[in-house]
Amino acid sequence: MKFAKRLGGLQTSIYSQLDELRREIVESGKTPINLSIGSPDLAPPEEVRQLVAKYALDPRCYDYTLTRGTYEFREACAKWYKIRFNVELDPETEVLPVMGSQDGISHIFWVFIDKGDSAFIPDPSYPIYSDGLALAEGRKIPLPLQEENDYLPDFSAVNSNEADKAKLMILNYPNNPTAAVAPASFFEEVVNFAVKHDIVICHDAAYTELAFDGYRPCSFLQTPGAKEVGIEFHSLSKTYNMAGARLGFVVGNAKVIKALETVKSNIDYGTFRPLLNAGVAALMHSSDTIIKNRETYQRRRDIWVDGCSLAGWNIKKPKGSMFIWAPVPTKQDSLSFVMDLARETGVILVPGSAFGEFGEGYVRVGLVRNEDILRQAVEKVRTFLENKD
Ligand SMILES: Cc1ncc(COP(=O)(O)O)c(C=O)c1O
Repeated sequence: MKFAKRLGGLQTSIYSQLDELRREIVESGKTPINLSIGSPDLAPPEEVRQLVAKYALDPRCYDYTLTRGTYEFREACAKWYKIRFNVELDPETEVLPVMGSQDGISHIFWVFIDKGDSAFIPDPSYPIYSDGLALAEGRKIPLPLQEENDYLPDFSAVNSNEADKAKLMILNYPNNPTAAVAPASFFEEVVNFAVKHDIVICHDAAYTELAFDGYRPCSFLQTPGAKEVGIEFHSLSKTYNMAGARLGFVVGNAKVIKALETVKSNIDYGTFRPLLNAGVAALMHSSDTIIKNRETYQRRRDIWVDGCSLAGWNIKKPKGSMFIWAPVPTKQDSLSFVMDLARETGVILVPGSAFGEFGEGYVRVGLVRNEDILRQAVEKVRTFLENKD
């Protein structure tokens, strides 16, 4: 067999390595507490589950919905953006359903990137950005996200010639893995940069609804001029705890949306109709799920940060996302710390190095277990750190 060279550009998934570690923990007789993958453990809205079940029984719901999906779903997305962000969207031209934002993000590279074309990718970042670019055989220009800049890219440090050649920039706030948030003024800077260098902006807004202490993240599309230069991906995965249902949407620049539809119409035949129908109910009637999620993740965040501070592991409380980004509390690199902690305590975190060069020195904690389990995990971490000294 002669496999395509582009496969060589993909990173080996840290999650398979961590799953191996989980098996090793089970075999050693310990109970793993897996805080690695960001898959919500909370229930989707009941109305959504009832509607999926109802429509799944309806034989008329098994047709191809095609890439554009239903008008009702696109209209619900537009209404949701109007209510949540006061952004006007045309459901016919400025909204497209996707099978989870990962579907849209991975395929957006096919819209802009020919072999050798370059794109700005944050470092550290969600791995699909680099891998999607690699599949399109593009060239990555890393945008370092560093603590001293509140994990926002420093555009003044970007080489102007590189920027002129680049075609695309991916951004993501609230951010995975750093849990950082972006102020509206940052997005104004982004629009100016995009106009100056003729770059399309793709903002991944998967976590805008998970924010704490009364803080409400903004949409990139609220920025004047944003719709002329970019698009935004949103997902029902984290907002309504529907990760496995694979439903999201992309909104913004009509030309970009049309081009993404063209690419995707060669790849899929649209989302399962029961899901699109249930997605309308999620977007229109399920704000109580969002409120409950925020309260739950905020309590979990506090358990982790306050508990770890008792062992001298001082971590800043994030304002958003379902993650905590913490400096490695020992003198080890992030992978060695994660391995040692897991083998001794069963608590599995993700080493920052898995998200890029600038992730080294940090670990990511997924707040994906209930309060009791998180308290147990914190207790184990505390004992581990006290015995390290
Ligand atoms: C930043 C970010 N974007 C996108 C996704 C993918 O989400 P979806 O389930 O919508 O494909 C994730 C999933 O963890 C994520 O963390």
